[in-house]
Amino acid sequence: MLDELEKLHAEAQQGLHAAATSDDLSTWFRHYLAGKGQITLLTRQVGQLSPEERPVFGQQINVIKKELQTAYESRAEELKMAELEAVMAADTLDVTLPGRQPARGRLHITTQTLRQIYRIFGDMGFQVYRSPDVETDAYNFEMLNFPPHHPAREMQDSFYTNTPDVILRTHTSAGQIRAMHEYYPEPIRVILPGMCYRNEQITARSEIQFYQVEGLAVGHNITFADLKGTLTEFAKRLFGAKRQTRFRASYFPFTEPSAEMDVSCFLCDGKGCQVCKQTGWLEILGCGMVHPVVLRNGGYNPEKYTGFAFGMGPERIAMLKYGINDIRQFWGNDLRFLQQF
Ligand code: DAH
Repeated sequence: MLDELEKLHAEAQQGLHAAATSDDLSTWFRHYLAGKGQITLLTRQVGQLSPEERPVFGQQINVIKKELQTAYESRAEELKMAELEAVMAADTLDVTLPGRQPARGRLHITTQTLRQIYRIFGDMGFQVYRSPDVETDAYNFEMLNFPPHHPAREMQDSFYTNTPDVILRTHTSAGQIRAMHEYYPEPIRVILPGMCYRNEQITARSEIQFYQVEGLAVGHNITFADLKGTLTEFAKRLFGAKRQTRFRASYFPFTEPSAEMDVSCFLCDGKGCQVCKQTGWLEILGCGMVHPVVLRNGGYNPEKYTGFAFGMGPERIAMLKYGINDIRQFWGNDLRFLQQF
């Protein structure tokens, strides 16, 4: 039986050297050392030996088992390393290559534009006043002196809710009355930024939701000169110190007189180009002196108070500033667009 053991021992040692893969090695282990392996089976046959032979054999087989077990473990480690190296060699890593840039987020172009506007008016003493996106017909139209059958009140132009007279605001002017109700009888200097909603066909030039920034100043002795001075200074700070402004007469129900402000084209310096359609001027905003009826609806006596108001679209301003020709880009979530700003 000792002979048999020696034979098995030599055979096992050879087999271990011959095992070229982890799979080979598992087969080897099952064949010799596992529960039903050759060596283990031989251990069980100790009973067949004479009492004198037993201790010698027992000791011998234990030594061999231990030796094979250790040899098996180190061979397993060797093979594992070799296999790992083979994988790494096949999948070569060039550590001299530049790393991948982590993607960095940024502010949306509209947010950037809004923040520029907030800062400029903030420096001039205007506070940001928030008013609701969901409005009533009264705030959005009626108290702003819209005639009862004005087309903007029709279903085609406004988003209505299931509740009668509750709509999504079509302009931030709706907040003017709310600000007046809250501030009366104090003077007011606020800007009202927010999303506006109009039930329109979506095209390159019109969206169904867009931002506006409204401005409102109410107090004693406020004149059209204050309006012009404030907005001209704003245009210079936003578009550059060389910019000039001009005011064209216009009409809005809630201002009298009303105007639209143009700024001299910052692309061609007023000489005429594609963006300003050869006029040298870009229309930036609507404005005017707060209509006496609107002042009264806000609680201010128009005999004692006057005020000016204005409204602008930051997307439109960004479009002019950066030469963006399709307003749908603002909601398109196309990184190729967004990453340019
Ligand atoms: N609410 C106007 C619009 O949506 C913009 C506007 C014009 C606001 C004149 C004003 C203003 O405050 O005085 O087209």
